[in-house]
Amino acid sequence: MSGINNRMKIALFILGAGHHLSSWRLSLEENPFSYDYNLEVTRLAEKGKLDFVFFADGLYIDEYSHTNVLNALEPTVLLSSLAAQTNQIGLAATASTTFNEPFNIARRFGSIDHISKGRSAWNIVTTADHGSAKNFSFNEHMEHGKRYRRAEEFVEVVKGLWDSWEYDAWIQDKEQGVFVDYNKIHKINHQGEFFAVEGPLNLSRPPQGHPVLIQAGTSTSGQQLAAKYAEVVFVNNNKGIDNAKAYYENLKEQAVSFDRNRDEVVITSGIRFILGETQDIAQQKYNELQSLIDPNIGLKLLSIILPQVNFLAMDLNKPLADLEETLDEEQTKKYLTYKKFSEKRKLNLKQLSQHVASISPHDLFIGTPEQLADKMEIWYKAGACDGFNLMPLNMIEDLEVFIHKVVPILQQKNMFREEYEGVSLRENLGLVNPSYRTKTANS
Ligand SMILES: Cc1cc2nc3c(=O)[nH]c(=O)nc-3n(C[C@H](O)[C@H](O)[C@H](O)COP(=O)(O)O)c2cc1C
Repeated sequence: MSGINNRMKIALFILGAGHHLSSWRLSLEENPFSYDYNLEVTRLAEKGKLDFVFFADGLYIDEYSHTNVLNALEPTVLLSSLAAQTNQIGLAATASTTFNEPFNIARRFGSIDHISKGRSAWNIVTTADHGSAKNFSFNEHMEHGKRYRRAEEFVEVVKGLWDSWEYDAWIQDKEQGVFVDYNKIHKINHQGEFFAVEGPLNLSRPPQGHPVLIQAGTSTSGQQLAAKYAEVVFVNNNKGIDNAKAYYENLKEQAVSFDRNRDEVVITSGIRFILGETQDIAQQKYNELQSLIDPNIGLKLLSIILPQVNFLAMDLNKPLADLEETLDEEQTKKYLTYKKFSEKRKLNLKQLSQHVASISPHDLFIGTPEQLADKMEIWYKAGACDGFNLMPLNMIEDLEVFIHKVVPILQQKNMFREEYEGVSLRENLGLVNPSYRTKTANS
């Protein structure tokens, strides 16, 4: 358990109608991608005193894309409008270091920080999706190691640009006719492997000094970037509490090795959830969502995993057929694993496909509000996380139950705030404003 305010931090990952592939089919919302919808969800999260709302972003879609990312507003544009319509909740958006320039990102998030009066956060991603390159005039995606080298330099330049104005550089002394103090505005003169940026930024220092930095990389380089720079880390935790604890400790230790304090890194565990008055009701709701998945999505994925199997020739309503094709040894082994899995759970091919389509690296919780609050308490107290990144399977329905039923339980246990502690996102997360620096690592 972290020492940060001694209360858990809770973010909401907003994703259209919900984090389940079929959530849009049950949603009562006419347009779960609209600005009005996103505002409604954000206001609900603010009512529940959640720390921040978060918007992911991708730069490529195809027929395998999650239904709720196929049609999505650009997140920083969305945040700037939400900033004007909310007062206390933090606002986080994703932007790629592979397909942007540091000057644009420093200016964009700096602007959101000004508009929101210190509530903005940037989720730093290097963009794993290879298809994205084709939307940015490249034939091939940048290699993984190079993407992370670029990301590190990118973050240094962005931080340098936010630091290019000292806090009191903008004077606006009308009587003396002095608009700014040029002694307090600095070029950064950055020269590195990827960027040459002179600066300064054409925007005064953001209210938080720097918008909060978020990261969610899973590879060794991703974790290193998180340990070095991230103030909030999103973790996928579908391997249980012991795994989560080990990951948590490791990341905190890595942060310490970069001369950071353990409390400067807030680790949040992603949790997909669906709630019901009883465990059975929640399970029924989940089963309903599962049954609405188009089995072709799973079949396509299965065909990628097992290209030698002709799934299309099999009957969807029957258990997986015995193997008639001659597969190589590796494919036979994989096929039999799926077959055994389906037999154990009594799944026909359609249900197996629906299961495969919904596999996710994020933890899944199906149960009652009380059980969810218990689980969150156990994880938090065990040192598996400093808080949670909520991923409701049905966005509005599950969020409403969370706010009205789970939040009060956590408050009663003194594990979650009754009121926002401060004005800025940093204050609410228990993070200090970064001190002013005059140089980037490479300038
Ligand atoms: C909660 C969460 C949200 C994420 N959001 C995004 C996103 O919006 N855009 C993106 O390109 N990647 C996103 N990712 C993926 C990671 O940033 C990262 O690319 C992926 O985990 C692969 O890690 P690696 O590049 O270290 O191998 C997210 C991951 C998590 C856990």
